[in-house]
Amino acid sequence: MGLLDGRCALVTGAGRGIGRAEALLLAAEGACVTVNDVDLSEAQAVVDEIHGAGGSARADDHDISTWTGAGAAVDAVVADGGRLDVLVNNAGILRDAMSFSIDEEQWADVIRVHLGGHAACSHFAGAHWRERSKAGEDVSGRIINTASESGLYGLVGQINYAAAKAGIASMTIVLARELAKYGVTVNAIAPRARTRMTETVLGALLPEEGAFDEWDPANIAPVVGWLASDSAADVTGQVFVVNGDKVHRMSGWHRTGRIANGGRAFTAAELAERATELFGEDSSGLPPMGFGE
Ligand SMILES: NC(=O)c1ccc[n+]([C@@H]2O[C@H](COP(=O)([O-])OP(=O)(O)OC[C@H]3O[C@@H](n4cnc5c(N)ncnc54)[C@H](O)[C@@H]3O)[C@@H](O)[C@H]2O)c1
Repeated sequence: MGLLDGRCALVTGAGRGIGRAEALLLAAEGACVTVNDVDLSEAQAVVDEIHGAGGSARADDHDISTWTGAGAAVDAVVADGGRLDVLVNNAGILRDAMSFSIDEEQWADVIRVHLGGHAACSHFAGAHWRERSKAGEDVSGRIINTASESGLYGLVGQINYAAAKAGIASMTIVLARELAKYGVTVNAIAPRARTRMTETVLGALLPEEGAFDEWDPANIAPVVGWLASDSAADVTGQVFVVNGDKVHRMSGWHRTGRIANGGRAFTAAELAERATELFGEDSSGLPPMGFGE
């Protein structure tokens, strides 16, 4: 018995890295998994691995960054398994550049794949669940998005990626609010793992023989398995940073200071005078980077 027996899942960008690990885990937990990736040979290799372990999977090579591709990927899952239960939005690319050097294509590609891909797949999955719910079915849908600490803290050199990932964290809350009444939960993870995407930074961080590999993408997948399961039915609108043996629950923008002017707008001079009240003991400069243990 697996946590996800009989569930139909779609994992985007699952031919490599974190998505591959997620697809393997969802299949090991009993789900029938559609392994989506624009690189079909990588997707098929993951499908073969799942079949080899006795699981159920199919490959899909639609480009989920277009609405046509995202719709076709969701439709194919429904045509094959009768329905979709779990959508893991994971596919991604990097086109790092400083804000003063980035070109329009680098900006647009990253926004299209991350922000556009998440929105498009969630749109079609949400429409599918809404239709089933309105037909009287007791739906239990799941969306697990992939944000990044780059978007939470604002990493230098990633204006496109950080903007997309911050948008995904925000989109997660919107989707969670909109889809709750149809029986759908929506959460996001912000992973840290050694993959093609991070090999220049993390590639050298290999564990000692027999030691726990903190950067193995397989460490990320169980959080997705839990969020996809019935045991997380009351978890929604949340963002979790996941790395190694740790899961951090994050909370987003919240008020840290307030001044009011008794029924009329401040003048600029009044603001200059009272600004220190807004900051209290806090710095008025750059917000801290929240990375850490
Ligand atoms: N690795 C990390 O530490 C880290 C940190 C934060 C966030 N993330 C996020 O995790 C996700 C997975 O990244 P990864 O590190 O495994 O990278 P990866 O490059 O190993 O895998 C990404 C996969 O997505 C596929 N893909 C790209 N565009 C696609 C599209 N339009 N349609 C379908 N498939 C597409 C690629 O072919 C690739 O196989 C990404 O969203 C990434 O931004 C990763």
